Amino acid sequence: MLDKEPMLSVVGLEKTYQAKNKPPIRAVNNISFQVKKGTIVGILGPNGAGKTTTIKMLCGLILPDAGAITINGHDLAVERSSALRSVSAVLDGNRNIYWRLTVRENLAFFAALKQRKTAQISEDIEYYLEFFNLKEKRNEEARKLSRGMQQKLAIAVAMIAESDILLLDEPTLGLDVTSTHEIRELLRTLVDEKHKTVLLSTHDMHLVENVCDEVIIINQGRVVVQDSVSNLKGIFQTKPYRILIEGTLSDSQILELSHIPNLSIEVLDTGSTLLTALLEEKSELYPILNILEQEESPVESIEKITPNFEEIFLAILQKGA
Ligand SMILES: Nc1ncnc2c1ncn2[C@@H]1O[C@H](COP(=O)(O)OP(=O)(O)O)[C@@H](O)[C@H]1O
Ligand SMILES: [Mg+2]
Repeated sequence: MLDKEPMLSVVGLEKTYQAKNKPPIRAVNNISFQVKKGTIVGILGPNGAGKTTTIKMLCGLILPDAGAITINGHDLAVERSSALRSVSAVLDGNRNIYWRLTVRENLAFFAALKQRKTAQISEDIEYYLEFFNLKEKRNEEARKLSRGMQQKLAIAVAMIAESDILLLDEPTLGLDVTSTHEIRELLRTLVDEKHKTVLLSTHDMHLVENVCDEVIIINQGRVVVQDSVSNLKGIFQTKPYRILIEGTLSDSQILELSHIPNLSIEVLDTGSTLLTALLEEKSELYPILNILEQEESPVESIEKITPNFEEIFLAILQKGA
């Protein structure tokens, strides 16, 4: 059951950093979005887009210059402690935990900080040790764990505070494939079974594609798209191709190619011409090849590129979303 009221609501958020003797940096520029209860929402964007700044404002670590943040019905600027009671954040996984404490001690320490009852704490610690697959490591010092296990412990520590909302800044950054996969599954289970609400930031579109219900794509401090992941899947599945042609194209070819959507033409230093096309269907290659064939332009290579976030992102921008 989804509540009508969003768990998290952000309206017109702004933040400019002003370091001494440096030009101001507008990190977050009029961002608004909502997160519904029981969903996982991903903030997706390239480095420097403003993801960390946004998350830091949501958990009260830095103050916005403008805008309103409402958490579980409480305005963060007005009812700070009530608002923050509903959120736990994991900003940089291994800084969230104490390195010299064991896995169990970390959980116990952070649960005690939240003034939870001792009997219930022990029960919860056992639950999360099991849930995050950390039982065998319960007496291991946090510093000796793998990066993936440290991240799981950091999330477990955040969960033990019993907050409804979990904020995660780049939860899989620097993790191996297995840990990334495990964290994805765990987040999904936390939301589906424990009815938590998760807002995470990432520059990994696979994380968004596989775990998030909705995505907010941001660039240069602005929201470019907010939509359900299933709606955006079409864009995620775009197939980028690179066609290298010896020499340059004629003006009429360039004109014809300009009518093909999501296609860019670049003359390289070597004198060759590079076409980059973001296609939804492989068959969309034929019209391009026809234009090349008309003047027998020598094709040196056609290459299907593994789409990276940058290219997908460009495709979204070009679609005018
Ligand atoms: N403490 C800071 N002082 C000055 N500029 C900052 C600071 N933190 C981030 N920035 C700048 O703000 C912009 C957004 O950064 P950030 O929120 O960290 O983006 P992301 O997490 O998406 O990579 C970047 O241009 C970054 O260099
Ligand atoms: Mg960041």
